Amino acid sequence: MTFHKLTVSLQSRSYPIYIGSGLTRTSSAVELVPIMRGQNGVVVTNKTIAPLYLEQVQKWLHDAGYTNSAIILPDGEEYKNHETLLGLYQDMFAAGLQRNSFVCALGGGVIGDLAGYAAATYMRGVDLLQIPTTILAQVDSAIGGKNGVNMEGGKNLVGTTCQPRVVISDVDFMKTLPEREILSGLGEVLKYGLLAGDDFISFLEMNKSEILARDPRSLATMIHYCSRIKADYVVRDEYDRLGVRAALNLGHTVGHALEKMYAYKQFTHGEAIAIGSAAALMFANETKLLADTALQRALQLFSDFGLPMQIPEEVDIDKMIEIMGRDKKAEDSLSMVLLHGLGDPHLEKNIDLSKLKNVLQKCKQLQL
Ligand code: NAD
Ligand code: GLY
Repeated sequence: MTFHKLTVSLQSRSYPIYIGSGLTRTSSAVELVPIMRGQNGVVVTNKTIAPLYLEQVQKWLHDAGYTNSAIILPDGEEYKNHETLLGLYQDMFAAGLQRNSFVCALGGGVIGDLAGYAAATYMRGVDLLQIPTTILAQVDSAIGGKNGVNMEGGKNLVGTTCQPRVVISDVDFMKTLPEREILSGLGEVLKYGLLAGDDFISFLEMNKSEILARDPRSLATMIHYCSRIKADYVVRDEYDRLGVRAALNLGHTVGHALEKMYAYKQFTHGEAIAIGSAAALMFANETKLLADTALQRALQLFSDFGLPMQIPEEVDIDKMIEIMGRDKKAEDSLSMVLLHGLGDPHLEKNIDLSKLKNVLQKCKQLQL
């Protein structure tokens, strides 16, 4: 078994991320299970993932000496709410979970956020193992400890920041991931390219075909790059209070507004982030922060990976800007992460709304 390993260095809350193939399947994989306080836990997953990977993961934990049962939730963002969470606490209690037990989240970002929040709060906190099964979860949601649930008023309005004990990113899970979810994850991956700059962008440009063909080695290298980038932001600003981790929201100001305008039904998160990133690139270029060559290279990358960039014609831009102002990340005025060059993100406050409106209109016709 070969794998990449990196550490999220947060003093006593430090943890390893393993990235590779067969990480919960091969006999030596048991070595990746951390030493936990107690011997008992639960695997939290959903109805789609359970028939594919639950048995394998339960055996992996069992072979490492941990007894465990399973809690299988329904599949969908609409279940990431307080009702599901309450049911989850009850099932954890019924499974005999104590203060020294553990929760293993097996799934995409929805399961990771729900199980992560339950683990952070049940009996004031039990150990959490993250086993992300989507690209998006492997490169983003499983790393950094953010968790939570949605409310009527919006997404992720309630939650905590509580780090896992380990993240196991097995690229074999990608074999069964629907094509659209692969693309959604790639939206976030390309965002990391913009944040990190030339080295990672060159890797993506040169390995596009292999990545789209789900070649395990290329996927593992790509996820390793992204995990390192995300871990670096998390280490510098664990609780997202210094304006450093906020750079990870590149493309999210416009992307979130778009998701919300379509009631989360039209675009996957990654598609919305791709459109939002293109808009942020265009705005940075129009305001003379980002050079034409950098803009063209970045847009070409999104196009090569088949990600959308245009804001749909029917979108009311005034309404979109109004929604952006109500985003939970907006403080006194509208802020956006803008690139001053590839690999050089800045959180800009007091965005000029009339300029933004013009650029967003232009994004409806955006073509290479
Ligand atoms: P998801 O969890 O809904 O998974 C997408 C779909 O793929 C689901 O139907 C799931 O059952 C299925 N699936 C997952 N793995 C599979 C596999 N290996 N094979 C086949 N099917 C599989 O979506 P997501 O994109 O992973 O996560 C989105 C969520 O993540 C959102 O709720 C978002 O708010 C959250 N998120 C959290 C953070 C954070 O820092 N905590 C960051 C980004 C996103
Ligand atoms: N997904 C953004 C963050 O973890 O801060």
